[in-house]
Amino acid sequence: MKIGIITPMPEEKGSLVAALDNKQTVLIVDMEIILGDYGHHQVILMESGIGKVAAATATTVLIQQYHPDAIINTGSAGALDPQLQIGDTVIGRQLAYSDVDVTVFGYDYGQLPGQPTYFEADQMLVKTFSKLTTTGSVGLIVSGDQFVQQSQKAEIKKHFPQALVAEMEGAAVAQVAERFNIPFIILRGVSDLANGDSGIDFDEYVVEAGRASAQLLLTFLDQQ
Ligand code: ADE
Repeated sequence: MKIGIITPMPEEKGSLVAALDNKQTVLIVDMEIILGDYGHHQVILMESGIGKVAAATATTVLIQQYHPDAIINTGSAGALDPQLQIGDTVIGRQLAYSDVDVTVFGYDYGQLPGQPTYFEADQMLVKTFSKLTTTGSVGLIVSGDQFVQQSQKAEIKKHFPQALVAEMEGAAVAQVAERFNIPFIILRGVSDLANGDSGIDFDEYVVEAGRASAQLLLTFLDQQ
């Protein structure tokens, strides 16, 4: 398979870079792309940068330049579900925007005009990834241009009580992948509990969280 991987930050991609063979680095504007092999898979690993616009542009470039069979977005996230702990992995079955409000025109909170409220990840990928982990949670991931701390957490949970984690890219990757009809899935490792300590915890655990998420992805590739 030709797999396109999007990871927002260098801290989140280290273990993936280390796992690739025959690496070649390409720069498209400021976006670093590492082309490489993992077993019999061809991998395009793209560092998108942080936030929805960075994620959307990277996903568009990835699709247009490399035509991947599937897109996997991996990285870290802040826990919204109180059951989750730092280091846990989460598989996004649905993605929604946590910071979109066009409700004045009758849309759901989180819904953009012309878009679904919930973007659905590829069902086969969700099923396959879910079987790979006994400890990982599967469900809703919300994305917004906000690093979620205690103050935003209650508001997001009010709109999305079922959300497992908050991050800053997944729904944008989902929207673009869906537009181009490319199967996608979003994976996250928990780096913080989206509370008063989230800034400090993030700095301390982002590498570990990124590694946990990336490990799930590599386990998937091992079995394909
Ligand atoms: N990524 C990791 N932790 C996060 C948080 N608390 N909010 C948004 N994105 C994150």
